[in-house]
Amino acid sequence: MAKLSISFSQSKMIMSTIVAYILILSVVPFSEAVLSAHYYDQTCPQAENIIYQTVRNASIYDPKVPARLLRMFFHDCFIRGCDASLLLDSTTGNKAEKDGPPNISVRSFYVIDDAKTKLEKACPHTVSCADVIAIAARDVVAMSQGPWWNVLKGRKDGRVSLANETINLPSPFSNTSTLIKSFAKRGLGVKDLVALSGGHTLGFSHCSSFSARLHNFSTENFSDPSINSEFAMNLKKKCPIHNKDHNAGEFLDSTSSTFDNDYYKRITMGKGVFGSDQALYGDQRTRSIVDSFAKDRNLFFSEFAISMVKLGNVGVIENGEIRVKCSIVN
Ligand code: HEM
Ligand SMILES: *[C@@H]1O[C@H](CO)[C@@H](O)[C@H](O)[C@H]1NC(C)=O
Ligand SMILES: *[C@@H]1O[C@H](CO)[C@@H](O)[C@H](O)[C@H]1NC(C)=O
Ligand SMILES: *[C@@H]1O[C@H](CO)[C@@H](O)[C@H](O)[C@H]1NC(C)=O
Ligand SMILES: *[C@@H]1O[C@H](CO)[C@@H](O)[C@H](O)[C@H]1NC(C)=O
Ligand SMILES: *[C@@H]1O[C@H](CO)[C@@H](O)[C@H](O)[C@H]1NC(C)=O
Ligand SMILES: *[C@@H]1O[C@H](CO)[C@@H](O)[C@H](O)[C@H]1NC(C)=O
Repeated sequence: MAKLSISFSQSKMIMSTIVAYILILSVVPFSEAVLSAHYYDQTCPQAENIIYQTVRNASIYDPKVPARLLRMFFHDCFIRGCDASLLLDSTTGNKAEKDGPPNISVRSFYVIDDAKTKLEKACPHTVSCADVIAIAARDVVAMSQGPWWNVLKGRKDGRVSLANETINLPSPFSNTSTLIKSFAKRGLGVKDLVALSGGHTLGFSHCSSFSARLHNFSTENFSDPSINSEFAMNLKKKCPIHNKDHNAGEFLDSTSSTFDNDYYKRITMGKGVFGSDQALYGDQRTRSIVDSFAKDRNLFFSEFAISMVKLGNVGVIENGEIRVKCSIVN
């Protein structure tokens, strides 16, 4: 349906998207590939539709798919840049990222593989696996009632994937200084850290990612003082100290399949699940940004879209390949 009018927030969003686009183009060094919104317009115009249909179908069969694909994009881009290194299987003699320590809950690789199989039929050897992840991450956000943005494309797939490099992912126990440093190493700023952490509006966490905050913060049975006490009691029930259920955990926000700004509202109430989420409200550099996103959903949406485009630019490589099958190098 054609839109006849543009609201103030939409035009603000468009303006800020344009500004971000100019900024991104001006900071990408020449040695890296420059991405484009129109990369496949001539060579595979149906690419985004094929990916969208595959992701949508998979999400109907399994409602966990959207959160998993969003997280997959973050993990891929943070280790060796957005080069689909996360999708490579381990081989004899090489343990790949997939099998690195924080891979718990990075799943649903089959969705990317399915989309890629269809793309190879429609336009052989054209669309990189790294671009498939970037487009899928956008689609799952939009499908969950979040914002939509133009994905820049033209990434190449890497040939190296090392399990031991996943230790460079930020930890859910990190403080804000550590998080800011980790994002800065990838050219992402404080605003990007706060906006992208809003990805935790979707999905689920296992007890192991936060239970040290509940039971063992300083001395036994002492909770992290930044947790709301009622919320801490609920979490303790779900994750008792000698927890035998490895699938136990908590949803990351109370509307865990809807992309909204509830995550920020909960942080202002001391109800962030991870120490790293709650820490954003305990630090002067990030607190006011959390407040502004908690108050204004549209502001969060436009900033999230801008930061996702920036995340998608991290470490894109020029001398990679277009993998035929996402789990193995050509
Ligand atoms: C700021 C640093 C971040 C840390 C420390 C962090 C940490 C985590 C942890 C520990 C989990 C739960 C794993 C488990 O126990 O199952 C998780 C889940 C998740 N993360 Fe993050 N994360 C960060 C940033 C991001 C970003 C930037 C995004 C995307 C934009 C993201 C998206 C997700 C999603 C969607 C889930 C839920 C996955 C599922 O339900 O399967 N995270 N994160
Ligand atoms: C839809 O997803 C289901 C479950 O993953 C799969 O079995 C089926 O083949 C998919 N259909 C299409 C048309 O992709
Ligand atoms: C990583 O995930 C795979 C399943 O996808 C699992 O077999 C493996 O044990 C996991 N590795 C770690 C260190 O958790
Ligand atoms: C990871 O392992 C590879 C070889 O397996 C090694 O060359 C590299 O130095 C290791 N990197 C880190 C960060 O430990
Ligand atoms: C943040 O954590 C790092 C690493 O654990 C630590 O070295 C640093 O002192 C901490 N900073 C603050 C302000 O607590
Ligand atoms: C609590 O923390 C101490 C010291 O960091 C550690 O030795 C102990 O195993 C932890 N207990 C639990 C239940 O995690
Ligand atoms: C910690 O809590 C458990 C159960 O909630 C209780 O059995 C135990 O005695 C407590 N330990 C301390 C040191 O208070």
